[in-house]
Amino acid sequence: MFTRTLLPALAAVGLANAQTATICSQPTITLASQADASALANCATISGAIVISPSASGTISVDGPQQVVGGFSALNAGNLVTLGSTTITSIGGDFTLTNLTTLSTLSFGSLKSCKNIAWSALPALPELTFAATVSKATSVVITNTFLSSLDGINLLTCETLDINNNNRLNTFSTQIANVTNQLTIDSNGVNLAVSFPNLMTVANATFKNASSITVPSLSTVSGSLGFYGTNMESVSAPNLTSIGGKTLGVDGGGLAFVGNAKLANISMPRLNQVSGAFQIANNSALTAISFPSLSKVGGAIDFSGNFSTPELPALTQVSGGFNVQSTAQIDCSTFDQEKGTVILGANDKAYTCLTTADAQAGVGSATTSGGSSSSTSKAAAASYGINEAVAGLSVVGGLLQMLL
Ligand SMILES: *[C@@H]1O[C@H](CO)[C@@H](O)[C@H](O)[C@H]1NC(C)=O
Ligand SMILES: *[C@@H]1O[C@H](CO)[C@@H](O)[C@H](O)[C@H]1NC(C)=O
Ligand SMILES: *[C@@H]1O[C@H](CO)[C@@H](O)[C@H](O)[C@H]1NC(C)=O
Ligand SMILES: *[C@@H]1O[C@H](CO)[C@@H](O)[C@H](O)[C@H]1NC(C)=O
Ligand SMILES: *[C@@H]1O[C@H](CO)[C@@H](O)[C@H](O)[C@H]1NC(C)=O
Ligand SMILES: *[C@@H]1O[C@H](CO)[C@@H](O)[C@H](O)[C@H]1NC(C)=O
Ligand SMILES: *[C@@H]1O[C@H](CO)[C@@H](O)[C@H](O)[C@H]1NC(C)=O
Ligand SMILES: *[C@@H]1O[C@H](CO)[C@@H](O)[C@H](O)[C@H]1NC(C)=O
Repeated sequence: MFTRTLLPALAAVGLANAQTATICSQPTITLASQADASALANCATISGAIVISPSASGTISVDGPQQVVGGFSALNAGNLVTLGSTTITSIGGDFTLTNLTTLSTLSFGSLKSCKNIAWSALPALPELTFAATVSKATSVVITNTFLSSLDGINLLTCETLDINNNNRLNTFSTQIANVTNQLTIDSNGVNLAVSFPNLMTVANATFKNASSITVPSLSTVSGSLGFYGTNMESVSAPNLTSIGGKTLGVDGGGLAFVGNAKLANISMPRLNQVSGAFQIANNSALTAISFPSLSKVGGAIDFSGNFSTPELPALTQVSGGFNVQSTAQIDCSTFDQEKGTVILGANDKAYTCLTTADAQAGVGSATTSGGSSSSTSKAAAASYGINEAVAGLSVVGGLLQMLL
């Protein structure tokens, strides 16, 4: 009788072990409840991906596993309130959270690395509870959340860092040293103060709607750098020497300051080269422009506004056109002399330097009624060294006219 009862019990244990092993190695594990998550408690490693079901509600905590080889995702789970894991240290695939309208706690106390972080539409999530801090990820894209802080993510390097439309985000400071592809800070809290104390190199960087940006160590931008619609009073990049890579010309990255209403001081004392176009427009508080070390500009120089004579004492080469128009009195004599020697791309049509009540961006003297060409073709813009990142919302049509 003893054996008769024991055997089924043993069989059940064996089955449970087999089931555990099977569960741990499924290509995709879908969790709809805490009970489903608890069934993974004995898996040290999940060899596939974890997917939270849209029907999941309340709390799901995946405790036990340390490593998830695949991704971790939760999409459209409108009743999910708390999601987390106390044990997962790495997610080998993407960590994707999308459209989780009631998610208010995201707690991954041990997580240190994942591949791509892609979080969007998390309107109820105020903060991250990431005690161990994620320090390794290939890209981080965080869009449309209620986050007021990104503490818990602090990378050393990444390919893409894109933080946009997080209306409550008013401070963001990260130790990141290098961004090898795109850095975008766009439409977050209007008073967002961004601090990158250790950032040394970045490919393309676009800043929109921030109130301050601190980049004391930034030394090279291999793509384009642009500031649009910010509330910053000053921009200082004391160590920045070059923008847009080594090759001057049409494919080089550019520099742009457009529509920064409060911007009064741009300080880039060591900036030596802008490989593509250089545009300053619609910064109504900017009354002086000075780039003491700027030697080469591979594209066009296009400055418009209400400023005194731009100080560009080190200029040796402007390969594109030249348009400087100010509502304030400026002295064009030096630039007039440089036309054809330093300012190479400028023929009569592509050279303008004047004081005018109606200072226009990107309009050559022969086309003053122009600027009407508003065809902002990306390809065309790119061919003038203003890539998509820098073109932003600015009118490139005028620039094109000026250069043609
Ligand atoms: C977001 O999730 C809800 C369920 O919570 C769904 O009804 C809605 O269609 C989703 N929205 C989008 C844009 O996918
Ligand atoms: C960042 O880039 C610089 C210059 O290329 C390099 O010296 C440094 O080691 C990099 N830092 C990291 C954390 O990758
Ligand atoms: C600026 O660059 C110099 C070397 O050119 C370096 O010694 C210094 O530490 C850098 N400053 C910052 C804040 O990174
Ligand atoms: C910068 O962005 C442009 C357009 O988005 C892209 O073509 C270029 O390759 C980027 N540059 C770098 C260095 O990533
Ligand atoms: C945000 O920046 C854009 C330009 O990139 C500008 O049009 C817009 O007015 C700015 N918004 C605020 C609130 O400053
Ligand atoms: C502009 O900023 C730089 C660096 O922050 C500072 O040294 C300089 O005095 C400022 N210039 C003006 C006119 O405020
Ligand atoms: C230009 O700036 C000066 C102050 O530097 C100011 O007095 C003047 O009104 C401004 N003109 C325009 C057209 O904004
Ligand atoms: C500057 O602002 C004016 C008026 O808002 C706009 O028409 C023009 O396109 C802006 N210029 C640039 C280069 O963004």
